[in-house]
Amino acid sequence: MTVAEQYLMGAGSDELDRMLFQGRMFRPEAERLLRRCGPGPDTRAIDVGCGPLGIMDLLSEHVGPGGEVVGIDVQPGMLDLARRLVAERGLTNVRLVEGDAAESGEAPGGFDFVHTRLVLMNVPHSAAVLAAMVALARPGGTVAVQDVDWISRVCDPPHPAWNRLVDAITELWRLNGMDVLLGRRLPRLLREAGLTDIGVDAGIRVFQHDHPYQTLLVDRAELCRDALVERGLIGHDELDGTIGELRAHLADPGTIVVHPTLFQAWGRVPEVNEVTGVSDVSGVSDLPDAADPSDVTEGA
Ligand SMILES: C[S@@+](CC[C@H](N)C(=O)[O-])C[C@H]1O[C@@H](n2cnc3c(N)ncnc32)[C@H](O)[C@@H]1O
Repeated sequence: MTVAEQYLMGAGSDELDRMLFQGRMFRPEAERLLRRCGPGPDTRAIDVGCGPLGIMDLLSEHVGPGGEVVGIDVQPGMLDLARRLVAERGLTNVRLVEGDAAESGEAPGGFDFVHTRLVLMNVPHSAAVLAAMVALARPGGTVAVQDVDWISRVCDPPHPAWNRLVDAITELWRLNGMDVLLGRRLPRLLREAGLTDIGVDAGIRVFQHDHPYQTLLVDRAELCRDALVERGLIGHDELDGTIGELRAHLADPGTIVVHPTLFQAWGRVPEVNEVTGVSDVSGVSDLPDAADPSDVTEGA
């Protein structure tokens, strides 16, 4: 199986539309993250697993005409749409690269800001991707990760069909080497990857029957139907029945859905080589003021 095929959600047109919708929904969170620790003018940033847009438009604004943004994604379908959107928006400082996040081919230490959103939870080699991201950041540069944690994923009133699908998908992810509870571990993973000045924040969205994300869980279950059945986690008939029951429950104006918690964690690559005690930095620009350590602990 190729790395692209390991991504269970694929790159069908519905999935591309969903990603763009989701990107717009989480834009305020991304803007907040970039205000805290984002790249300044004339710097280089990379959005790892950028999808059809990711946060490349925001990064493009931050680095300005004198900077560069690289977007990397493993799925050609994502990059086709990304190319179109980047051209339509006139984002002339954005360059797109097709490849696996763990082996981008970009120069180590070449970026001031390395970011990924909603990728690590969806790849079996998240540790390798994170290590590669750290390697891409220059000494003193920032690595920032946004990913979800299903700790908050509930509906109310509760419904057995909801729990059945959450459990089946959680197990599917686990069997594929992925973790739906990754979000809470991000600060720890960044620390273990050698970063310092770790900051963390998290936020939760709640939906009602008229929001497209009210049905995200059942939509996901339908999208990974074959994988769920092939893994023996649920039979076709039971899945159909469960989805039908849950759709009816979620369509009730009295039912609310609490989305997985979006965690944001960020940290800096140490400026000094901890083994030799010698500074690795020569002639690189300082991080922007927004990345002042007094700022990054806010919300932790
Ligand atoms: C849920 S989408 C998120 C897209 C984007 N980061 C955003 O927040 O809108 C996950 C993206 O990661 C990409 N992806 C999955 N595995 C990857 C890998 N090994 N290397 C690079 N990109 C990968 C997928 O193709 C998809 O575009």
